[in-house]
Amino acid sequence: MKKKYALKQKNTLNKTAYPSNKATVLEWIRFFARKLAGSGLSFDNGMQNPYHEAEYLTAFAFSIPMESLDSCLHSLPPADARQRMERIIDQRMIQRLPAAYITREAFFAGHRFQVDSRVLIPRSRIENLFDDQNGFTALGSMPEAPLFLDLCTGSGCLAVALALAFPRARVHASDHSPDALAVARLNIEHFALGDRVQLFDADLFSGLPPVRYDLIVTNPPYVSKATMDALPMEYRHEPAMALDGGVEGLDLVGRIIRQAADFLSPEGVLICEVGDEGEETIMRVWPDFPGEWIYFHFGASGVFSLDRSAFPQKVLI
Ligand SMILES: C[S@@+](CC[C@H](N)C(=O)[O-])C[C@H]1O[C@@H](n2cnc3c(N)ncnc32)[C@H](O)[C@@H]1O
Repeated sequence: MKKKYALKQKNTLNKTAYPSNKATVLEWIRFFARKLAGSGLSFDNGMQNPYHEAEYLTAFAFSIPMESLDSCLHSLPPADARQRMERIIDQRMIQRLPAAYITREAFFAGHRFQVDSRVLIPRSRIENLFDDQNGFTALGSMPEAPLFLDLCTGSGCLAVALALAFPRARVHASDHSPDALAVARLNIEHFALGDRVQLFDADLFSGLPPVRYDLIVTNPPYVSKATMDALPMEYRHEPAMALDGGVEGLDLVGRIIRQAADFLSPEGVLICEVGDEGEETIMRVWPDFPGEWIYFHFGASGVFSLDRSAFPQKVLI
């Protein structure tokens, strides 16, 4: 299916229109940005817009650090880099690989993570709670040396960001995908956090040690069947297991709410992302939902917090 799509698209990219050998870095950026902007591609997987992405991928192709890009705009790219640039344009425009899978990096909470198509590209809205640590501490009093759980850790981005933001915390990070656990391990090692961040292969809570956490954060798969069916190609490069939340999208969220209280300390809090669609569904089917929606500076939420003391007897999703 992917192959057929790629072949169909391949004929439409006119390589003769590529910039000449005398084109500057800026001309390449403008060329790429025009292509991206007129392409109907999706920029949701961690990139802001076509212009930002063109700058980022051009800098990567020409091995220019982003912070030096401004001073290199009017220079000629290295002669041997043209092929790399063309390959990257192909990967993005034809294969529709998200930028992060091309560069194998993603930025989250101010940190650089290694990623590839074994994991979701980090973009959880929970990132906004790291803006200043108050986002987390405002949720309740935290012990001196807290124990956190990042459930469904993927690349390990939330677990690592938590460990870096709370230097006295220990973090358990779990996933049920061996691929994801392998990438998370790379990131934990890269940040030299092996002594404070421990990985577990667990089907949600089943497989975790019998401990109580002061905070559980989770960005589980929460995409509904209808939305999964309509996802742009870029998302199809991400593991389906990282996105697919069942018919309404809330299969795993429901399981998490049913089980999380048994893993929280008396003052503990669950922070769970469900996305806009998930929030709408919950509001519709569960009028007295006990969670509190967290509103970020951009207004939207799709993330709730639930205190240990407020967990419901009956879960309506
Ligand atoms: C939306 S991704 C989130 C990854 C990461 N926390 C982030 O924010 O980028 C969801 C993750 O849940 C994992 N997952 C799916 N089903 C699971 C299950 N039953 N138990 C544990 N993890 C699961 C997937 O492998 C995937 O890594």
